[in-house]
Amino acid sequence: MRMIRTPGVYAPQGDTALLLETLGRERLARGDRTLDLCTGTGLLAIAAARRGARATAADIAPAAVTAARRNARLRRCRVRVLRGDLAAPVAGERFDLVTANPPYVPAPSPDAPASGPARAWDAGHDGRLVLDRICRAAPALLAPDGVLLLVQSSLSGVSATLDALDAAGLRPRVVACRDQPFGPVMTARAGWFEARGIVPPGTRTEQLVVIRAVRTAGPRMARPAPGRRAVPAADDGPAR
Ligand SMILES: C[S@@+](CC[C@H](N)C(=O)[O-])C[C@H]1O[C@@H](n2cnc3c(N)ncnc32)[C@H](O)[C@@H]1O
Repeated sequence: MRMIRTPGVYAPQGDTALLLETLGRERLARGDRTLDLCTGTGLLAIAAARRGARATAADIAPAAVTAARRNARLRRCRVRVLRGDLAAPVAGERFDLVTANPPYVPAPSPDAPASGPARAWDAGHDGRLVLDRICRAAPALLAPDGVLLLVQSSLSGVSATLDALDAAGLRPRVVACRDQPFGPVMTARAGWFEARGIVPPGTRTEQLVVIRAVRTAGPRMARPAPGRRAVPAADDGPAR
């Protein structure tokens, strides 16, 4: 799906594509409430709306909100697009499905950028500034049986996300992963990753991982042992 992208808005990439594919495997009933956090161009929210969901999208960047609204209009999709910090614009609401492709790249600055293109990817020294917030916010965002689909890099702690979601009372598991070469941002930062021990010397690939977390009880999922790469767990049946 081609998206209009105003300057400074994150161009859909490998992580977007992997999350979109995973969303495509999710069961969605007409009228289900969906929320796409960190929506960028709005592509994921539009994909949900096209399947009949009551779709909401949110992003902190005004340019992303403009782009998402424009893309939804061009696709003749009804998407409620809100501006704000993570889930703040939907405080008190619950959703059947929440998707998120947040900033997750480890960065030399400990703080999240206040503006600019890097706000789409930089997420503090360990890449977890936004991931950890989403893990904490997820239970209050999900309706009973609600599902969170979250994409991140192997460089920003897949086990940490699984543990955080588990601690938040959800049932998380890895449902998709894909290796990809470093893009320009990661390549420029490769020496810094090596110096901090985030990757072994010479590493120029990362693994993208989609984690699916459910609010209901279910079988425990495979999780990578510390320092190991993620492996998708066997399918445990339809999503909802
Ligand atoms: C990696 S991009 C993902 C864009 C889109 N979902 C996709 O998959 O192509 C991350 C997005 O998160 C937004 N973002 C960063 N920090 C945020 C925050 N605290 N609250 C809401 N959105 C945020 C950025 O503006 C950016 O659009």
